Amino acid sequence: MERKRVLVTGGAGYVGSVLVPELLSKGFEVTVLDNLSYNNGRCILQNFYSNHFQFVKGDIRDRVLVDKLVGQADHIIHLAAIVGYPACRKDERLAQEVNVIGTENIARAVQPHQTIQFASTGSVYGAIGETCTEETVANPLTIYGKNKLDAENILKEHCTPIIYRFATAFGLAGRLRMDLMINDFVYQAIHTKHLIVYEKHFRRTFIHVRDIARVFVHGLEKYEEMKGQTYNVGHETMNYTKEDIVNKIRARVPFYLHFAEFAKDQDQRDYEVNYQKIRATGFETKISMDTGLRELMDALEIVTIPNPYSNI
Ligand SMILES: NC(=O)c1ccc[n+]([C@@H]2O[C@H](COP(=O)([O-])OP(=O)(O)OC[C@H]3O[C@@H](n4cnc5c(N)ncnc54)[C@H](O)[C@@H]3O)[C@@H](O)[C@H]2O)c1
Repeated sequence: MERKRVLVTGGAGYVGSVLVPELLSKGFEVTVLDNLSYNNGRCILQNFYSNHFQFVKGDIRDRVLVDKLVGQADHIIHLAAIVGYPACRKDERLAQEVNVIGTENIARAVQPHQTIQFASTGSVYGAIGETCTEETVANPLTIYGKNKLDAENILKEHCTPIIYRFATAFGLAGRLRMDLMINDFVYQAIHTKHLIVYEKHFRRTFIHVRDIARVFVHGLEKYEEMKGQTYNVGHETMNYTKEDIVNKIRARVPFYLHFAEFAKDQDQRDYEVNYQKIRATGFETKISMDTGLRELMDALEIVTIPNPYSNI
């Protein structure tokens, strides 16, 4: 049977480094388009064993290249972005160009016979009092959240995407993002042996990076049912306060812990999220906080990360 071709933009990133091997193992022909902005490509080495893997070093702002690569694909998974508000704040113009104009290039190139899935974020909601569903009015507070909401709208204007608003990711991946809250807490607890935490009562919602990868595969299988829809992706059992998380880490490793209001989360994420809609499509996250933390702690005991915060 002829293999279906998947284009993964940003496939050398944190999510991509887990997703691409998964797609190859499922029998897809995979092309990654990535400008390798944060790494030298080490995390994609594992894919070259397969002659169904192709890597294109390039930029989603390059419309000619995007048209060509999208034109060759059956399915598009759009991950490439400047991710998180600290990275976007570093260079707002670049963030706008990549996150919004780059997405528009993809959106314009997609044809009706192709599928398109987009990685958005819970940061589009902003500060929410009640439990958040997909019907909750988006009110992003940061340039990152605003960019991602603009990108969602552009995609909806041009095609019928599946849009995922992910919880905050954590967990091990080939490219390990250390700016993510849990990854950062674990790294500091183990390597600097102290942690200062602000807004300890803030309720956050998390998802393991392997579950993020799984939902894209689910979307490929269920595209007809899910297309044109937006889904929160995570699980109610993964809603925790920041204090809950540090207590779980402290149960495994001793470190100096201090709570102090020395900073603020710019997205003001203090909410619980409802995940009924994605569950109704047959998708359930699998990796619990305890499992994800155990893996992370076992690995970070051994591995040191050079320049852990280089992307922000
Ligand atoms: N990790 C999370 O917590 C999380 C949560 C919600 C949503 N998301 C979304 O998932 C997607 C992937 O996030 P990630 O955690 O893997 O981030 P990441 O920063 O690790 O990966 C992004 C990738 O995009 C590439 N890239 C950046 N600009 C590019 C450009 N102009 N052209 C081509 N490639 C470019 C980078 O080199 C990088 O490999 C993003 O769209 C992000 O907004 C992530």
